[in-house]
Order: sequence, then C-alpha cells, then structure tokens
Amino acid sequence: MKLLVTGGAGFIGSNFIHHILKTYPQYKIVTLDKLTYAGNLDNLSDIEPANNYQFVKGDICDLKLVEEIVSGGIDAILNFAAETHVDRSLYDPKCFVQTNITGTQVLLEAVLKYKVKRFIQISTDEVYGSIEQGKFFTEESLLLPNSPYSASKAGADLLVRSYFKTFKLPVLITRSSNNYGPYQFPEKLIPLFITNALEDRELPLYGDGLYIRDWIYVEDNCKGIDLVLHKGKEGEIYNLGGGAEKTNLEITNFILNYLGKPESLIKHVKDRPAHDRRYAMDCIKAEKELNFRPKVKLEEGLKKTVEWYLNNKEWWKKVKSGEYLKYYENHYLKREKV
Ligand code: NAD
Ligand code: DAU
Repeated sequence: MKLLVTGGAGFIGSNFIHHILKTYPQYKIVTLDKLTYAGNLDNLSDIEPANNYQFVKGDICDLKLVEEIVSGGIDAILNFAAETHVDRSLYDPKCFVQTNITGTQVLLEAVLKYKVKRFIQISTDEVYGSIEQGKFFTEESLLLPNSPYSASKAGADLLVRSYFKTFKLPVLITRSSNNYGPYQFPEKLIPLFITNALEDRELPLYGDGLYIRDWIYVEDNCKGIDLVLHKGKEGEIYNLGGGAEKTNLEITNFILNYLGKPESLIKHVKDRPAHDRRYAMDCIKAEKELNFRPKVKLEEGLKKTVEWYLNNKEWWKKVKSGEYLKYYENHYLKREKV
C-alpha cells in the first residue's frame, strides 16, 4: 500500500509515519509538507534513509504538485496538514482558511481525478464547540465551532462530506481529542508548560485554569487512525477520544510536581477569547465498529511525555529559538496578568 501523508513533518503526522513504518514495513509513504513554523524534518530524521519513504516539500494548496504526486500511484491519502494553533488563528485567520479549507478541497479534487481508493481527513473535537458537564458529543452532534481554527476545520469536514454525497468519494473523517506526546511543538499547553518549567519560566495559564480537555496519547490516536484507514466505513465519521478529562490546572500541577518545580511558576493570564470550557466525546462508535480502545493512561502518558522532553532538550531548544521566540515574546509575554 502506498500512502500520501500530508503534514507528515508535524506532531501527529510524524508520529503516524513512525507508527505505520513500524507496523507495516512493506508499506510505502510519501509525505507532502510545506514546512511551516510547525513542520520539522528532525521529527523524521531517523526514517529519512528508508527506501520506502519519500519527503516532498510543498503546499497542499498547489494542485499541480498534488496531482504530480497522486498520478504516480497513491492508494490512500491521510490529510494531517493544517494550521493547528487556536491562539494563532485569533491573530491571523487567513492562512487557516487557505490551508485547512482550500488545501482540503485541492486534495479532494486529486482523489476524484485519480480515483484514489481512500481519503482520511484528520479532524478535531473542536468542530463541535463546547459542552456542559455530564454530556458528550457524538458523531451526529451539531457543528458549532467557536474559533477561526475550529471553523476552518468544520468547513473542511463539510467539504469532505459534500464530496462523498456528490461524487461518492471514498472519504472518512476522524475527530480526535487533545493529543500529547513526543514531537509536539512547544506552543501547545503540555509541551509549552514542560519546557517553560524546565527553563524556570512562567506558565501562562488562561483565565481560572478550570477549562477541561480530554487528553489522548498521540500513539493511541495514530492506532485509531490506522483502524479507520483499514477498517472504517466510507462516508463515516469516527470520534477518537482518550477518555481522560482534566482541567488545565490539574495538568499544570502534574507537570510541576513531576519536575519538582514550584507552583509559583503559574501565572494566571487574561483568557483566550471564546475559550471553549469543556471538550468531551462519546467514542462508542469507534469502539464497537473498529475495536478502538486507547491504551495509555493519562498519568503514564504524561510521564513518558515529560521524560521525552527531558531527553530531547536539543530538539525543543532549537524549535524554541528564532522565529518562534519572536512570536512568543509578542503574544505570550505581553498577556495581562489577572
Ligand atoms: P502541527 O501543527 O504539529 O503540524 C502541522 C503540519 O502541517 C506541519 O508539519 C506543517 O508544516 C504542515 N502544513 C501546514 N500547512 C501546510 C500546507 N499548506 N501544505 C502542506 N503542509 C502544511 O499539527 P498537529 O498537531 O500534528 O495536527 C495534525 C492534524 O491533526 C491537524 O489537521 C489538526 O487539525 C488535527 N488535530 C490535532 C489535534 C492536536 O491535539 N494536536 C487534535 C485533533 C486534531
Ligand atoms: O481538541 C483538539 C485540539 O486541541 C486540536 O484540534 C488543536 O489543533 C490543538 O491545538 C488543541 O487545541 P487547544 O486549544 O485545546 O490546545 P492548546 O494546547 O492551545 O490549549 C489547551 C488548553 O490549555 C486550552 O484550554 C487553553 C489552555 N492554555 C493553552 C496555552 C497554549 C493555557 O491555559 N495556556 C497556554 O499557554
């Protein structure tokens, strides 16, 4: 099987490529990645020499390039490529619409023209919006996205659905909860707070810190996507959650305790606008139809993740310099303390 993995140099994409090449050494993978600030070839350096793996630098919005790759014979496309950070979508929504919506449409056109056998859209629980305690989103729930990021992901999901309805394309959608683990860009909560704590920098906790996320270890999400790729039903959506709800404050305290750092590093800062209070999904469909069951418990996964950042200082020190540092100084260090 030959896969086109877009966004393969990012966090989940690179973990997925590692998972696939380990599980199915006979598969071939082409990855197409624009190498934005979030794309990092260091995430794939160990598999670069493999002769069943090829990297192409480029944009999923570039139809000519996408057609060139797909016309060479691709059995399935997995679309991980996206602008992914909610905070950035508040400052600069345009590139979110371009990559997340237009890019997805370009890939769907290539699937249509070259009769690709499977297209997996990697989506998110954020498309559903926020949900009160005791309730859970199912795949049938309304889409009520609240940020430009989640709105662009919801737009892409609807386009994918429309290509299924209109052209009978063999498409499937996964919606996962918050991922954590190795190679996550340190602008997201967990890697930002681990690396800041390691540098004795403040941890900018938004609002009261009681926002709830459901956390899934990235390896479990990759296994879920693998199940959807091989066993999922065309036209269907699958929620892939970790079943591990925690407040941001609980996650922060775990990191500080594990590293032996003081709580005084926490800085309560002005809240993110339209901040979703709680994400939580019902994942019974994936469990029943695909036998999807996340294996890694939150505490175990967090320990593994902290250890990975402790053992890979070079990786994140390099990432946390240059362009990223300017962004961090402009947006995070200027956040008002509350
Ligand atoms: P990431 O930001 O770490 O990586 C995104 C990758 O896409 C980068 O390598 C980047 O260079 C590439 N990219 C961006 N624009 C591109 C373009 N126009 N053409 C080609 N490549 C481009 O993201 P991630 O956290 O690994 O997320 C991957 C996917 O999973 C995204 O679609 C995201 O919406 C979805 N998702 C993420 C999470 C999470 O918790 N991280 C949860 C649910 C869903
Ligand atoms: O739910 C899935 C989504 O999870 C993915 O679709 C997104 O791509 C991914 O970025 C993530 O979105 P979140 O907004 O939930 O992730 P983030 O790590 O930015 O924030 C997690 C929580 O922590 C959220 O409630 C905001 C809060 N937070 C975040 C940062 C970066 C803080 O309190 N301080 C921070 O500095």
